[in-house]
Amino acid sequence: MLEVSAVTKHFGNGSARKTVLNGISFSVEKEEFVTLLGPSGCGKTTLLTIMAGFQSPSEGEIRIADRVVYKPGPDRGFVFQDYALFPWMTVRDNVLFPLREKKVPRVQQEKRLAELLRMAHLEGKEDLYPGQLSGGMKQRTAFIRALAGSPDALLLDEPLGAVDPQMRQQLQDELLMLWMKEQKTVIMVTHDVDEAVYLSDRIIILSSVTGRIEDEVCISLPRPRQRLSSAYIGIKNEVFRVLQRSCTRGDSASEDKTLQVS
Ligand SMILES: Nc1ncnc2c1ncn2[C@@H]1O[C@H](COP(=O)(O)OP(=O)(O)O)[C@@H](O)[C@H]1O
Ligand SMILES: [Mg+2]
Repeated sequence: MLEVSAVTKHFGNGSARKTVLNGISFSVEKEEFVTLLGPSGCGKTTLLTIMAGFQSPSEGEIRIADRVVYKPGPDRGFVFQDYALFPWMTVRDNVLFPLREKKVPRVQQEKRLAELLRMAHLEGKEDLYPGQLSGGMKQRTAFIRALAGSPDALLLDEPLGAVDPQMRQQLQDELLMLWMKEQKTVIMVTHDVDEAVYLSDRIIILSSVTGRIEDEVCISLPRPRQRLSSAYIGIKNEVFRVLQRSCTRGDSASEDKTLQVS
């Protein structure tokens, strides 16, 4: 469904040239939930924005359903770290934005809006502005806006980064529920190991030292996952080991090797 082929990204020129991504390749199946995990600065956002079509790779290509990505399109929904809602628009106008862009008929717009508001427990909030919503409501509005145009893939960049830990776990469950109901392919960026293990079918761990994929960890535990089970803790430890390995190659090129442990 989504194919990342030998994607390399350099920034800067001459001696200031920095290779952030170095020949990254992987594919994602339809309806798979994949997480890109790695320390801050390893290139997760860069890779996701290339997938979204906001910037192009220096080398390599990305294909979605066999079409090469070269600009943003309605086949991909995107949620940024800071919600990215339009503050001057109500919940209704934010959520309907992608449908109006696609010139979906009015009646269908209203039907989809009602369905999404119900799914995200936002009924009755449609006339509020983002500034009048709690952090969790803003986040859920951003999710349903990304889902509104029925994209093939949802690209999420640390979508829960701005919410407090307790709300975060609740939103993780809501994200899972939306994913199961809407059956989307999800590619999510996070630097939170627990979040990655709780949510994903597969975790792709990037190295900030090499700019390559360090390793992948597949997770077949049934959902909802039990954070205190020994299988869950075992997988978390395995992911930590891979992350540790990716950070300790003794290359001074990596600048920020801090990991957030949750
Ligand atoms: N437009 C840009 N110009 C120069 N360097 C950039 C640019 N965008 C990102 N970088 C650098 O690329 C590296 C990876 O950034 P980013 O993809 O944001 O990492 P992550 O999301 O994993 O924290 C960082 O060192 C960052 O400074
Ligand atoms: Mg980032």
